[in-house]
Amino acid sequence: MDFKPANKIQDLQYFGEFGGVNPSVSDSSTYTFLSAKKMFDTFEGNADGCYLYSRHSSPSNLYLGEALAAMEGTEAANVTASGMGAITAVLLQLCGAGEHIVSSRTIYGGTYAFLKNFIPRFDIKTSFVDITNLDAVEHAITKKTKVIFCESVSNPLLEVANIKALSEIAKRYNLKLIVDNTFSPLSISPAKLGADIVIHSLTKFINGTSDTVAGVVCGTQEFINDLRNVHDGACMLLGSTMDSFRSASVLKNLRTLHIRMQQHSHNALYLAQKFEALGLKTVYPGLKSHASHKLFKSMMNEKYGFGGMLTIDVGSLEKANAVMEMMQKQNLGYLAVSLGFYKTLFSAPGTSTSSEISLEEQKQMGLSNGLIRFSIGLDADIERTYKMMLACLEELNVLEPQLVSI
Ligand SMILES: Cc1ncc(COP(=O)(O)O)c(C=O)c1O
Repeated sequence: MDFKPANKIQDLQYFGEFGGVNPSVSDSSTYTFLSAKKMFDTFEGNADGCYLYSRHSSPSNLYLGEALAAMEGTEAANVTASGMGAITAVLLQLCGAGEHIVSSRTIYGGTYAFLKNFIPRFDIKTSFVDITNLDAVEHAITKKTKVIFCESVSNPLLEVANIKALSEIAKRYNLKLIVDNTFSPLSISPAKLGADIVIHSLTKFINGTSDTVAGVVCGTQEFINDLRNVHDGACMLLGSTMDSFRSASVLKNLRTLHIRMQQHSHNALYLAQKFEALGLKTVYPGLKSHASHKLFKSMMNEKYGFGGMLTIDVGSLEKANAVMEMMQKQNLGYLAVSLGFYKTLFSAPGTSTSSEISLEEQKQMGLSNGLIRFSIGLDADIERTYKMMLACLEELNVLEPQLVSI
């Protein structure tokens, strides 16, 4: 693929209100109209360049949306107050009572809980499938199905979705393919592979400073307009609107995303290779042993690597907790959920970010108790980090022979 997402961000040019290289932050919830007729036209969606109310759109939010649409290669984007604000708005925009969703079963726990526990209140049902099994995806489609939902790289099992193949299925059945690309910004460009809608939790790598929650929906101009429609748009009416100050700060962080992703990926690959060599059960899409290594390679924008997320399995929850506590004590990172920070973050997904998924279902999808999910940081000296991590693993006897994979 010759799509260059970071160039698209770099090429955007800003002339702020007073000539500033950063556009001014628009600090208004409401906007004046010079005529009543213009106000009416704006509410009807017929007055380009006019703002009506900041829940609908604001100059700052449009700037960030424009940059993210450029990054994903879509016509437009709408930023939201959180990743969940983007996901829930999109699903409720596309699906109504009696309709059906086919979703990957390994997705972020909050998305899973929304699909499993919340959206059935509106008589919208979901079939959860192994997204790597294309036959299973196709078999799950019914006459009522409206969308296929997946993560390009899944949370927390790091399964990789075959976006091209899924998009072919979606097109054949006239469905929308929605891809949550939170784990692989820049590395994978889902819209270029056929996804109709790309979502991010900006909270993670894209913002990268763990100081806010935020989200985005990237898609066609028509779909983004639908989301913002004052009469029936889910973003407009559910009200998950990003604050203008936040959009301005996320936009500034976005400009270094390409440098950060290269470092996250470099460090994660280094550690994954070392962990695997120790005999630890290690999952990282950059390892040849990963079931979808070749698929990831075939889809990726190579420069940005295989991402900053990896998992190891240390055998039991007790061991996982002990390892994480010791790593935090040794200042190797934080025992915290989320991802994309400059320091490494680690958590045991079974008891945190995926705890919404029942134990039985966790077992079925292969989410084991001893799994530790790492979001690898921007460490300048990853060799030093590895040596210190190894010392923790040795001290806690994690490298016992029974854990060594054959
Ligand atoms: C893959 C993925 N999608 C969506 C979300 C939800 O994003 P937010 O916390 O910004 O609402 C998360 C959060 O962890 C996530 O990991």
